[in-house]
Amino acid sequence: MEKLAIKGGRPIREKGFPAWPIFDEREEKAILEVLRSGKWWYGERVKEFEEKFAAFQDARYGVSCTNGTAALEISLLSLGIGAGDEVIVPPYTFVATASAVLKVNAIPIFADIQLETGNIDPKDVERKITDKTRAIIPVHFGGFPCDMDALGDIAQKHHLKIIEDACHSWGSKWKGKGTGAIGDCGVFSFQMSKNITAGEGGIILTDNEDIADTAKSYTNCGRGKDKPWYEHYLLGGNYRMTEMQAAILLAQLTRLTGQTEKREENGTYLDERLKEVPGIRIMKRDSRVTKRSYHLYIFRYIEEEFENLPREKFIEALKAEGIPVSSGYPHPLYKNPLFLRKGKGAKYCPVSCPFYGKEIDYARANCQNSERICREAIWLMHPVLLAEKKDMDDIVKGIERVRENLKELL
Ligand SMILES: Cc1ncc(COP(=O)(O)O)c(C=O)c1O
Repeated sequence: MEKLAIKGGRPIREKGFPAWPIFDEREEKAILEVLRSGKWWYGERVKEFEEKFAAFQDARYGVSCTNGTAALEISLLSLGIGAGDEVIVPPYTFVATASAVLKVNAIPIFADIQLETGNIDPKDVERKITDKTRAIIPVHFGGFPCDMDALGDIAQKHHLKIIEDACHSWGSKWKGKGTGAIGDCGVFSFQMSKNITAGEGGIILTDNEDIADTAKSYTNCGRGKDKPWYEHYLLGGNYRMTEMQAAILLAQLTRLTGQTEKREENGTYLDERLKEVPGIRIMKRDSRVTKRSYHLYIFRYIEEEFENLPREKFIEALKAEGIPVSSGYPHPLYKNPLFLRKGKGAKYCPVSCPFYGKEIDYARANCQNSERICREAIWLMHPVLLAEKKDMDDIVKGIERVRENLKELL
């Protein structure tokens, strides 16, 4: 039996996994072209990227902006959601999914996730609907599309809007249709860690021309379509994407399909191997998910089946073997001080908003599956899945080695 690396043995991997971001002469040439063109702003590349990315995800319109957070806020504003409204969100996600709701003075209401997918549970969404609910923001977590059939039915029945938080799911498809193009609108992030990146950036996709025009106006100081430059119609801001960002994203887009296929191939292979390992639970598959971007590869670690070795110790031992795992979010969003603080006045708006007319106490939020996945999840970031099949074998070998040497760690 090989000694664990954390106890002085030789690590399974001495070589790293692929680095991120990936770029080559395509990005270099594209940036130089923008530099030399003298048009760094509002040029043809932003428009080209909006059109190409919208088409890539099967949407009619794309409105670019500065980041995914802004894209969420602008989507809510464009759908007319604001003070007094409730919006249902999952608590197992990045803070922006819920903070965007607060930013437009609406109230995020947390619905639990499904343990086996990491995505919002349509049954709990339905339980959380009140007379104030106006919208749902499902997050296609890690790139695995939510059950858009069930959510679509609920939205139709209760007259709710759907904003897809597709900030993990560039290229993912639900029953053949791109995520972000299924609900009323969908938002994407191009921040540095994302599967297609310009360092920062975001986009809103929709099939609805009015939503697209309104979103465009919000991103551009409230200007009107085909209207004079110094006329302002909405309380917008400056959320414009630059030509440099668009040029980089256009180059990145040329690799996305190939990279997504590679990640899917390796993700499927890892599932096959890891489903045999006691104490590891792989995430569920769904035949309606016809393409999956794999922003994250997630599995759950069942401590009791590892002789109660704490997950953090397991992660430390795996990292020492050269496997770059992490534990992800430490707690559901509602346990963040942002949601737990209490007080009156503008600083605490909109939780004490008079338009809301109700009391919300996030200390009482209780989403059991979200709490549990925060304790059990282990994440591998997407660049790992760009390695070769034999590198996936190393991940499995690492887990098996830690399992075989548990006694040394207890
Ligand atoms: C699910 C989710 N939504 C929204 C965002 C916000 O995107 P950005 O960082 O571009 O503002 C992120 C970014 O990490 C995210 O993971």
